[in-house]
Amino acid sequence: MDHSAHGTFAIGGDLAVDRIGLGAMRLARNGMGDATARDPQTARAVLRRAAELGVDHIDTADFYRSPDGTVRANDLIRQALFPYPPGLVIATKVGPVFGPGGPTQGTAADLRPAVEANLEALGVDRLDLVYLRIGWRVPPRGESLSERFEVLAALREEGLIRHLGLSNVDQAHLSEAQRVAPVAAIQNLFDPADADQAALAERAAAEQIAFVPFGPLGSGQGSAHDERYAAVARRHGATAAQVALAHLLALSPNMLAIPGTGSLAHLEENLAARSLTLTSDDIAALR
Ligand SMILES: NC(=O)c1ccc[n+]([C@@H]2O[C@H](COP(=O)([O-])OP(=O)(O)OC[C@H]3O[C@@H](n4cnc5c(N)ncnc54)[C@H](OP(=O)(O)O)[C@@H]3O)[C@@H](O)[C@H]2O)c1
Repeated sequence: MDHSAHGTFAIGGDLAVDRIGLGAMRLARNGMGDATARDPQTARAVLRRAAELGVDHIDTADFYRSPDGTVRANDLIRQALFPYPPGLVIATKVGPVFGPGGPTQGTAADLRPAVEANLEALGVDRLDLVYLRIGWRVPPRGESLSERFEVLAALREEGLIRHLGLSNVDQAHLSEAQRVAPVAAIQNLFDPADADQAALAERAAAEQIAFVPFGPLGSGQGSAHDERYAAVARRHGATAAQVALAHLLALSPNMLAIPGTGSLAHLEENLAARSLTLTSDDIAALR
């Protein structure tokens, strides 16, 4: 088994990206709940530095905004990087709509306007990857997504979207969506110890579907602060966050990491995990 965090994966078979990208949610706000807006100038500097360091996969959403809605991740991406470097893949997600108090669940009728809003804000004619994001905190078991996925499949046929993905789903959702259109990527909260999630990730690997765990650093509270990660990190002269990223990527070649940060120092630290290769003993210690 290759335990290295470097290399690329081709989303949908044709969009090759480095396995460590950037999550854009933290560019607009410094957390969830009672978070505050981030400084847009710093956020743009993070994006430009990311591009310099070869980041070619940015994960965003129209609803990634400061709590008051004035600082928007998509605007920051365009301001910092347009015209986009060749090969940059910008993945976005639709489903929730931004309202007073933050994002709430939308309906099938909200999807076309959401796709159009992303096209306009990012300044592109076609979106590389659009996830249908369903439910709230856990995959909404038993909830049908066909009606919504059909809307996105039609927009893909229209040429507005290159690849489709799913977010916050279970295996039944994946099967249901695949009856409508190909699924190129899945983005879920991921705990390898959860048997359902592990089985979904394994199926994604077998079907060449990118698996993109959100919150790869425990959204600022998880593995980066876990003593087991710190112990492995000391052996490599690395940081716990770098070990957390390398550990995720060691699980299978279709795993992509999108650590979220609004900090230049954290960005550089996270990308340096590309050169970290964990040993089998490290992996065993992290089980
Ligand atoms: N599909 C979905 O429903 C969904 C949900 C949540 C997130 N996402 C996506 O997943 C991305 C990542 O999730 P996330 O941003 O919530 O969580 P995360 O990547 O697990 O963690 C981000 C948090 O960790 C901190 N951090 C980043 N690098 C660090 C480092 N090297 N050392 C210590 N702390 C570090 C960040 O603070 P600083 O900003 O100060 O660095 C921030 O507080 C998001 O940006 C978004 O694109 C998707």
